[in-house]
Amino acid sequence: MERMTVTEFEPGAARLAAGTQSGAGPRPDASGDAAEGSTRADDVTRRDAEAAVVTVRQESGIASMRVVRVVRETEDSVSIELTPDAAHSDRFGYRPGQFLTLRIPSDLTGSVSRCYSLSSAPHEDGPLKVTVKRTAEGYGSNWLCDNAVEGLELQVLPPAGLFTPSSLDEDLLLFGGGSGITPVLSILKAVLARGSGHVTLVYANQHENAVIFARELADLAVAHPDRLVVLHWLQSVQGLPSVEQLAALAKPWAAREVFTCGPAPFMSAVSAAMASLGADRTRVHSEKFVSLSGNPFETGSTTADPDAATDPGDNATARVELDGETHEITWPRRQTLLDVLLAEGIEAPYSCREGACSACVCRVVSGEVSMRRNEVLEEADLQEGYVLACQSVPVTDDVSVTYE
Ligand SMILES: Cc1cc2nc3c(=O)[nH]c(=O)nc-3n(C[C@H](O)[C@H](O)[C@H](O)COP(=O)(O)OP(=O)(O)OC[C@H]3O[C@@H](n4cnc5c(N)ncnc54)[C@H](O)[C@@H]3O)c2cc1C
Ligand code: FES
Repeated sequence: MERMTVTEFEPGAARLAAGTQSGAGPRPDASGDAAEGSTRADDVTRRDAEAAVVTVRQESGIASMRVVRVVRETEDSVSIELTPDAAHSDRFGYRPGQFLTLRIPSDLTGSVSRCYSLSSAPHEDGPLKVTVKRTAEGYGSNWLCDNAVEGLELQVLPPAGLFTPSSLDEDLLLFGGGSGITPVLSILKAVLARGSGHVTLVYANQHENAVIFARELADLAVAHPDRLVVLHWLQSVQGLPSVEQLAALAKPWAAREVFTCGPAPFMSAVSAAMASLGADRTRVHSEKFVSLSGNPFETGSTTADPDAATDPGDNATARVELDGETHEITWPRRQTLLDVLLAEGIEAPYSCREGACSACVCRVVSGEVSMRRNEVLEEADLQEGYVLACQSVPVTDDVSVTYE
């Protein structure tokens, strides 16, 4: 039996120890800054706005952001702070837990596209921050760690993702493994600063020097002694956390909403641990860190269906609410909603276009669609009517969706 040692974080790093979907009801608005995320402009810093250079391709939502600071967090991770200019900052409001998609230049392919969660929180008076950890042999992460310098411009897709609490006033149980701390930290900071929820964080790392944000977490634990508990798990001391060990750790907080992000085996162990504690599956939210195989920065806007125009019987009708406007469009049954919207010149959000990131998420208000692929929406999301526009084709003749 492995020894289980749990260390509550104290100031000073040395203290570290050893399918088919139909419409449904609305998703509750996030409170505090999470709610403000939908008003966007309020959340985004303007401090360095004048220095930033931004060009937005109106048809795709791609913006170029300037790196305003790079922080070496650990031996193999860096934080990169990015700022859009004032003209386009309204596209860069976000909710805690969301991610950006970055275009990373490549001599080989022109570019690769990678998602990075925001480790900053919306209420913070500063640039948007992503934190990148080197992946052994990985291209994108190493390029960013080696080449990100102040003044660098990067093409970026606006914040996206559903890995965000519905309320900042709810008590949360958070799990972060390695670089998986990034969205979890954003959520944690937002709850402490703008909500009334209590937070317990279980944070697993290989060894003490690999702990990203050790100081920041220590400071937060000191500032919020009655609302924040940080439990560090060091593999070098305690070995890999087993399902039983994670369940023992989580037990006092098992009734809470759970957010987990980290390496796949860690997330599986967390899910199994929460299941063994009888946690409602719909209350356990996971963010998977995968590399996109597609590249939204290089892909054309749509693939037209040559039969669509000649076979009206094969068309459905979509009513789409987006950015305060309602569009009524013809929807060829063989095309995805995202492809149809982009072909119509409607600037719908997206990133991977392969059902893996949730950047294109929208909600079916009436009618029915089916998704070709879904690697990211969870049962609770599906029950609320959320679908991936990049994977959705119509089932009924009339479908209404909203991006609001
Ligand atoms: C929602 C989300 C949030 C995420 N948040 C974070 C985060 O906060 N922090 C973090 O560190 N990671 C995060 N990730 C993971 C991140 O997106 C990458 O998967 C990770 O950085 C590894 O990417 P990589 O390119 O370094 O490695 P790999 O994915 O292993 O890349 C290797 C690939 O690059 C190709 N390649 C090699 N050389 C070249 C070249 N010269 N030109 C073109 N292609 C080449 C290879 O063929 C291979 O397919 C997140 C992922 C998602 C989906
Ligand atoms: S764009 Fe990534 S899931 Fe649709």
